Amino acid sequence: MEGKIPLIGEMFPDMSVVTTHGVMKLPEAYAGKWWILFSHPGDFTPVCTTEFVGFQQRYDQFKALNTELIGLSIDQVFSHLKWTEWIEEKMGVTIQYPVIADGLGKVSEKLGLLHGQNATATVRAVFIIDPRGVIRAMVYYPAELGRNMDEVLRAVKALQVSDRMKVAMPANWPHNELIKDKVIIPPASNEKTAKERKVSGEGYDWWFKYKDLD
Ligand code: BEZ
Repeated sequence: MEGKIPLIGEMFPDMSVVTTHGVMKLPEAYAGKWWILFSHPGDFTPVCTTEFVGFQQRYDQFKALNTELIGLSIDQVFSHLKWTEWIEEKMGVTIQYPVIADGLGKVSEKLGLLHGQNATATVRAVFIIDPRGVIRAMVYYPAELGRNMDEVLRAVKALQVSDRMKVAMPANWPHNELIKDKVIIPPASNEKTAKERKVSGEGYDWWFKYKDLD
């Protein structure tokens, strides 16, 4: 692989992509919005079909979170169009989000989606990107395992709360086994704050404080 792939906390690299909705410039096309870029190994494959339907069925929920979706695979636009037409005809589901046609694999290479030597298909990656174009989360699944779209929705919701309240989000939020839907106050960054936390706030210890969602 040539060059360094973008990581969490870095800007999504500027690029022009060919999609089923025409040429788009990323990240600028989604300025001011959250967006999910998800790659799939190939069109006309069963697991990918279940994922496309799963994302489409939650598209309104993503939009309600000011979040857009964009797919990607190393296929041509005509293949994406034929496949999404098939999904509409056979499954009654109209895919409304754009799909990147990365026929030459250039975008996939830039984003680190080709795992293993001589890979010709992408893994199942999910990038969550914020309204400033910063990559906030990256997840990779292998071809044989379809992703959980509800977890992607949960991650967007949790990141939005984290930004708004300047807090960290517990496991399985909002159904955490210990603190339910409460949110975690980030670790004390100095001695004074640590001492204050020994005598104030809700928590298990001074380093494990939490509070209600607002
Ligand atoms: C699928 O989407 O069904 C699939 C794609 C690549 C390898 C294995 C399964």
